Amino acid sequence: ADKPALVIAIDGPSGAGKSSTARGVACRLSMAYLDTGAMYRAISWACLTDGVDPTSHSALFARAETADLQMGLDPRHPTIIVDGHDVTREIRDPRISDAVSAVATTPEIRTLLTSHMRQIINRNPRIVAEGRDVTTQVWPQARVRVLLVADAETRIARREAQLLGKVDRHRVSSSIVDRDRKDSTMSEFDKPAPGVTLIDSTYLDLGQVIDQVVGLVPTELR
Ligand code: DC
Repeated sequence: ADKPALVIAIDGPSGAGKSSTARGVACRLSMAYLDTGAMYRAISWACLTDGVDPTSHSALFARAETADLQMGLDPRHPTIIVDGHDVTREIRDPRISDAVSAVATTPEIRTLLTSHMRQIINRNPRIVAEGRDVTTQVWPQARVRVLLVADAETRIARREAQLLGKVDRHRVSSSIVDRDRKDSTMSEFDKPAPGVTLIDSTYLDLGQVIDQVVGLVPTELR
């Protein structure tokens, strides 16, 4: 509570290390942590659970509108509860990863979740927010803005290690390439927006990436 306000926003494609980096930075600097992708995933979970037609933007939005999302912002144990169900683990399931693009490409849901994200950031002035469009759409005024990228091969290998034993490599690879393709209609990751610092994590370990992000924070705000 003594520490100064500070918002750090981290964007990037899947598998570049956004979550681990954001959590590590938040732990290091005693900040809250917001995983915005988890919010899209939780809405996707609610839609799948209720059998909502994934091809109908209006049906998806209708379900999203009634969903009560509770975000736990502790970077050591981030949690997400939707309508009273703790879905923290379930939203990582490949069936959610496959279904979430339908939710994330519904414009009304983006507007709804973006305003929810802004409320959370307003109430938690010292926070690391992570997700596809946080540096450009959700909170472009963040003091520190980072676009975290990595070669596709590296991202596939990391995601594979994460999912070890759950799915095979071909499936991981096609799902990452697939999501790159789906997601690329929403934003462009090749070059950062003005004021956003590009960090390529291909040849860095997690500690080095965290150091680089922390290095972007003015000393008096750390
Ligand atoms: O980062 P992730 O894989 O948990 O994101 C899940 C989905 O939500 C993915 O399709 C990207 C999308 N997303 C988004 O559109 N905007 C965000 N701020 C965060 C995630």
